[in-house]
Amino acid sequence: MRVPETQLALLEAASATETKTVAQLAEELGEDPAAVTRAAFELEEAGLLAVEEHVAETVTLTEEGQRYRESGLPELRLQRAAVEADADESPVEMGRLIGTAGLDGPEVNIALSNFARKGYGKIDGGEVTLAAEPTYDPDADPEAEALDSIADDEDGVGYLDGSLLDRLESRELIERAETTVRSVTLTETGVTALMEGVEVAETVGAITPDLLTSGEWRDVEFAEYNVEADAETTYGGKEHILRQTANRVKDVLVGMGFQEMEGPHADADFWINDCLFMPQDHPARTHWDRFALDVPPMEDLPEDLVERVEDAHRNGVGPDGDGYHSPWDEDFARAVALRGHTTSLSMRYLSGHAVGELEPPQRYFSVEKVYRNDTLDPTHLLEFFQIEGWVMADDLSVRDLMGTFTEFYEQFGITDLEFKPHYNPYTEPSFELFGKHPETGELIEIGNSGIFREEVLTPLGVECDVMAWGLALERLLMLMYGFEDIRDVHGTLCDLDLLRNVEVVY
Ligand code: PHE
Repeated sequence: MRVPETQLALLEAASATETKTVAQLAEELGEDPAAVTRAAFELEEAGLLAVEEHVAETVTLTEEGQRYRESGLPELRLQRAAVEADADESPVEMGRLIGTAGLDGPEVNIALSNFARKGYGKIDGGEVTLAAEPTYDPDADPEAEALDSIADDEDGVGYLDGSLLDRLESRELIERAETTVRSVTLTETGVTALMEGVEVAETVGAITPDLLTSGEWRDVEFAEYNVEADAETTYGGKEHILRQTANRVKDVLVGMGFQEMEGPHADADFWINDCLFMPQDHPARTHWDRFALDVPPMEDLPEDLVERVEDAHRNGVGPDGDGYHSPWDEDFARAVALRGHTTSLSMRYLSGHAVGELEPPQRYFSVEKVYRNDTLDPTHLLEFFQIEGWVMADDLSVRDLMGTFTEFYEQFGITDLEFKPHYNPYTEPSFELFGKHPETGELIEIGNSGIFREEVLTPLGVECDVMAWGLALERLLMLMYGFEDIRDVHGTLCDLDLLRNVEVVY
């Protein structure tokens, strides 16, 4: 009988009387466990080996568990300090004990709640009294002892009480994992085969052009693959779901007849705010909301446009126009900051500055980063992706805007949009868009929109209507996948399982 090399080695190492695990055998043979597992399955199929599987739990200490194992559980340190301070006789002030126990930061609360839970004593009015008869012997605290046994033997902790392990897990002192353990024994057929003599067969793992042209493929033996065997999970690089969704948004918008805009992340306030008829003393223009950059002011601004924008701010537009009666300063307009919205790109395109004069009808979009000096929370980031867009045509109405959003969001399975009247200095009318969170049912704001007012369009030289919007890509993602914290997809707190396993479906 002839079998591949790894299989022969495994046959010889396996025993008919003693069960050995694949991990043991792999170590004995100096082979990769995955290769030994594969060989074991092949030999099982040939009837030469018996393979048994069982699920084993491994338990390891977390970094915090490790720390407490060395320094003592916080509640035991408190208990010891209390004994030293004779708190069995009369109550002792808590602050003193915390000091002698060396408790610090979150450890203080951990110590207090577990001290009480374990019946070591009472905490009342800031004073600690030791119990005459504590539930546990502090020198044989079951949780402390369990930490020791886990540290000594990760696999051999099957005897530990399940509820004790649950408790340690909820305290985040241990981590539990399940693994499949396979063990093998030689079957009778295996023993007989070995006695009759088994030899190594050279097997070929893959067909090569050489094998084909030489005709050698006719004579060689091919390795068999077991496509059902468990394989180790490997995580390769993957496009982030945010990027995948951004690309999908672009495809959808291109499908709706839009063209993509491009432009600088750091731009003159002129394009970010002044063109949008945002008064220079608007609260959002102060340093609180804005990431100002310490770079020279932007020289390259179209002079005639700067004049017309200044005029709109000072005097308004049209016979009944009225300006802001607030200061307007060209240096302020030329100062450079990170854009707080991509409407700066819309201004560059509508003005003719980006790709030349545009004749209606036109549709443009961008899916790009914007930067805001917000406070980080579950729905706010300091930088996020905005889906900017606008349509230039004659006689546009709010109905056209609502229809565009309905059509756009439908492509992502979102059909329950709600609209709320809103105010923007640059659009009239304006409204905000809301969608329902699939898990919490909460209405979350997903965008802002409106029809540009003449104070914006006239200086830009646009004579027809322009409807426009800025939608948040991350909020769209929240509605699509149901996560509740934007930090699940961004930054150091992100949910790796979500990022690895979620698929963006077209
Ligand atoms: N710039 C707005 C924002 O960031 C979005 C918007 C763009 C609203 C264009 C109306 C018109 O919220």
